[in-house]
Amino acid sequence: MKVIDIQHASGRYPVYVAPGLIDMHSVWTRHLSGRVLIVTDDTVGGLYLDRLLGACEAVCPTAVLRLPPGEEAKTAANWLKIIDALIAHKAQRDATIIALGGGVIGDLAGFAAASYMRGIQVIQFPTTLLAQVDASVGGKTGFNHAAGKNLIGAFHQPAAVVADLDTLSTLDERDYLAGMAEVVKYGAIGDPGLFGWMEVEAEALKCRLPEALLEAVSRSVRNKAEVVRADERESGQRALLNFGHTFGHALETATAYARYRHGEAVAIGMVLATRLSELIGLTEPGPARRLLKLLERLGLPTELPKEIDRDRLVDLMRLDKKNRADQLRLILLESIGKACIRACAADDVREVLHS
Ligand code: NAD
Ligand code: GLY
Repeated sequence: MKVIDIQHASGRYPVYVAPGLIDMHSVWTRHLSGRVLIVTDDTVGGLYLDRLLGACEAVCPTAVLRLPPGEEAKTAANWLKIIDALIAHKAQRDATIIALGGGVIGDLAGFAAASYMRGIQVIQFPTTLLAQVDASVGGKTGFNHAAGKNLIGAFHQPAAVVADLDTLSTLDERDYLAGMAEVVKYGAIGDPGLFGWMEVEAEALKCRLPEALLEAVSRSVRNKAEVVRADERESGQRALLNFGHTFGHALETATAYARYRHGEAVAIGMVLATRLSELIGLTEPGPARRLLKLLERLGLPTELPKEIDRDRLVDLMRLDKKNRADQLRLILLESIGKACIRACAADDVREVLHS
């Protein structure tokens, strides 16, 4: 088992990474307090809830709330359902929410924990690769509004994160690979050793070999731990985690969130951002080709479809939160393993989109 210590402004918490953690009760039940509410979705609940529930009930009075799966469930109405369930369970300030599921459940249950009685503790049990390497760590919580994704939210760090690698075996292939794009991202922006290791182990990663998964998840979490320690509230360095995301979000919006998984759009976005880095001379030619080859070997998409309207993408990119004074600000690469934030001319962005 690997244990990564996450330090933040008001404390620290462990991220446990190993296969079989759900059944290693002594590792995580010690973090429980008060009354416990397990929040999960119907898919994950059907697979893993029973094993968790027995262990919780042996220690604390425990209730369960199951929500529908998918991004559509990340709403104010479901946030309120969690609050209602806490009230019905007579949860007090010492209560614990367990978020068992992917990033949707983690964000929603995390925000319920941030807001109920001005803050109770949450323990994250991430069951997707994306949630294990990214969403469960770092304290961003919230839900969507019709006007925008994650528009309502708060920073609320978990009391512990329990990443059971065995849960990844039931994950759909596309969801699994989409999470792998975020692992590539950590390598590209700050960990050239991780990137090089992925180039060697691409097949093992694609086949979900246990040793490869342990290394990929624990090393990603270590990378995220560094960023959260240095910039918990995203006033600087944390923005680098958005590498590939400005292009990716525009692509997701342009395709009505129906065509791509988030990680797939980010994969295409990372290639575009690296091509842009080469175009403006921030880096020598080479990294874009290397990145593209790794993503292809992992089975991820790397090219914009022909029919996508490039000008609409630029317009959508103008809405990005990182922009200032009408300038596009993007995360670019100086080399594989070194990212920076740069103001970019819309014409250069357009040229890359058309290339
Ligand atoms: P998700 O939570 O919707 O899970 C994807 C699908 O996989 C769902 O249908 C779910 O039921 C199913 N699933 C989950 N675990 C499974 C398992 N072990 N076996 C079988 N099926 C399983 O999506 P996601 O990709 O995990 O997360 C996306 C969300 O995360 C987005 O809402 C995004 O905004 C958020 N996010 C948050 C942060 C953060 O820092 N808080 C970072 C990145 C993404
Ligand atoms: N997923 C981006 C962040 O946590 O900041």
